Amino acid sequence: MIQIPKGTKDILPSQVYLWQHLEKTARETSEKFAFKEIRTPVFEHTELFLRGVGDTTDIVNKEMYTFLDKGGRSVTLRPEGTAGVARAFVENGLAGGALPAKLYYMISAFRYERPQAGRLREFHQFGAEMYGAGGAFADAEIISLADGFLKALGLKKVALQINSIGCKSCRAEYHKALGEYFSPRLFDMCGDCKTRFGKNPMRILDCKEERCKKHTAGAPRMLDFLCGDCRAHFEEVKELLAASGIAFTVNPSIVRGLDYYSRTVFEFTSDAAGAQGTVLGGGRYDGLLEQMGEKPLPAVGFAAGMERLLMVMEAENAPVPQEEGVCCYLAGMEKESRKRAFLLAEALRGQGVSCEVDLMERSLKAQFKYADKRGARFVAVIGEKELSDGAAEVKDMRNSASERVKFSELVQYLKQRS
Ligand code: HAM
Repeated sequence: MIQIPKGTKDILPSQVYLWQHLEKTARETSEKFAFKEIRTPVFEHTELFLRGVGDTTDIVNKEMYTFLDKGGRSVTLRPEGTAGVARAFVENGLAGGALPAKLYYMISAFRYERPQAGRLREFHQFGAEMYGAGGAFADAEIISLADGFLKALGLKKVALQINSIGCKSCRAEYHKALGEYFSPRLFDMCGDCKTRFGKNPMRILDCKEERCKKHTAGAPRMLDFLCGDCRAHFEEVKELLAASGIAFTVNPSIVRGLDYYSRTVFEFTSDAAGAQGTVLGGGRYDGLLEQMGEKPLPAVGFAAGMERLLMVMEAENAPVPQEEGVCCYLAGMEKESRKRAFLLAEALRGQGVSCEVDLMERSLKAQFKYADKRGARFVAVIGEKELSDGAAEVKDMRNSASERVKFSELVQYLKQRS
């Protein structure tokens, strides 16, 4: 038997209700903040991610599913949602509409990473992006949306950490300081960090190698290099979060793994989200559109990993509405009553009642067993006697009580009780 590719997962019918709960909560929270859903292609021109995500990131350097299509064009399965949404935003002229534009998405994304708990090659994200608003209120609203979503899922032990990584101008100073700090230590660091040193020294702070971590611990902090505007922006974000009752800590080591960020960056973490710990990450990215060759426009957003959220929900025992079984199973016996059951089921469905009938010519006992496995709320038995009476024997599967119910009154009976 051909097996599932490494780092991917089937979502089985028994698990789907958890996903639907996540998706419903994401939609409801987004819509409360007046965000509208956007859907973009699963693959894009590779160039989009080279420019959008950034060619100094691990995602672009090591993790992209890139291939030539039959026309010889290089395409890439999206490793995240922000770049595709940015492209769609520009290409469809959304910048000409009402600003800020508020968009959300639920997508599958692909990264060729070493699979482990909470790290997959195909995973799912719920993300939100806002275009056009450059002030601290926008950052606070995006973080409040993320926080509201996690709270609506009933999560209590997810911690918010924020940082500011400044703008182009203050970061230049910072890069200089990092250069001075790392240059005498570089001989003792990994090959990737040596490359990062030349291209984007801040990336070094994100390195997971132990020998690099011991050097990054004492590195200069971006927070000490913020220019006046970036500092004021960060102070305002913190003030708004505090006033909104959103708990956070400032963690100067958050730099995020993508190149497009500026100013505010944030992560929601949990011990239950696998080795990575980050369930949701995001930040401001005012330079992205310009980096993609477009007119600059401020933007801020986040994405949450759905698989990691499910791990955290399980660990925290978060409440999930139980999946409902079918409302009514109609059990027939001999040919005529089976046919009647079939036609009654058609009529009931037409009136909005979910039901099932026997499709395998099973005995009545076997039909009851099946109905029970399917979580049917009621079983309506129709035999010869019931046919001639024009009424079914309806059993409530929760308390085993039975009642005779006229066929013509079945819909009303079921609707009133389920
Ligand atoms: P990211 O931090 O790369 O940011 O990913 C966001 C979330 O996706 C992570 O916190 C994690 O929960 C989940 N995730 C990432 N990689 C994997 C994986 N291999 N397996 C399972 N889950 C994973 C972004 O993607 C940005 N686009 C977020 C953003 C939106 N920033 C601004 N707007």
